[in-house]
Amino acid sequence: MKILGVVGSRRKNGNTVALVQEVLKPFKKKGFDTKLIFLGDYDIKGCNGCEGCKDTYACVINDGMQKIYPEILEADAIILGSPAYFYNVSADMKTFIDRCYCFEAFDEADRSVWMGVNEALGGKYASVVAVCEQQKEADMGYTSELMEKPLEALGYRVVSTVKALNLFAAGEASKCEKVMKEASQAGEKLLKTLQLREKLRYRLYRQ
Ligand SMILES: Cc1cc2nc3c(=O)[nH]c(=O)nc-3n(C[C@H](O)[C@H](O)[C@H](O)COP(=O)(O)O)c2cc1C
Repeated sequence: MKILGVVGSRRKNGNTVALVQEVLKPFKKKGFDTKLIFLGDYDIKGCNGCEGCKDTYACVINDGMQKIYPEILEADAIILGSPAYFYNVSADMKTFIDRCYCFEAFDEADRSVWMGVNEALGGKYASVVAVCEQQKEADMGYTSELMEKPLEALGYRVVSTVKALNLFAAGEASKCEKVMKEASQAGEKLLKTLQLREKLRYRLYRQ
């Protein structure tokens, strides 16, 4: 099993990465193949809406995203984490999500019929981590939804969401027991979901 953590903050010692790492921890403990990437380490251009991916499900833009696409396809589960930037996900996270448009498939005659390629592949799961400075959830705006909804459209089932409030300085999250526990529990839930998938696959297909 392969799990991919995607961090939309450029702060390498920041709160988002601390929490995404905590979600990944249960998988690491079990010895699963985990990978953590910072989107800021890649040169990722914005989607230009060219529809060049229409029949291939592969993006035509030759940039850093080409290194990430195979990781996405190979991952059984994905964890997206972003700080709230003006009630929204960070620009890096938004650009990354838009570039996943190539994994959407539409019926040629009726665009109201569509699915993510993950739905065809079957059984992909996700967790979301949203972080903000203010104490009220409203001040986080749409940060978590702006990761959850596209993940669902891409054919992932989002099994856990961590909304971490009241975190400003880089690294504060690591000192906050409550939120670290929430992240750990989110990881456990994601792990148990994948383990159930494996059990079912074995029982149904003996594979
Ligand atoms: C450009 C920018 C915009 C921000 N907008 C918000 C916001 O709308 N609401 C909020 O509560 N915090 C906001 N913050 C604070 C960050 O979400 C907060 O510091 C968070 O802990 C940063 O996560 P990181 O350590 O992973 O980078 C903003 C910070 C920056 C730099």
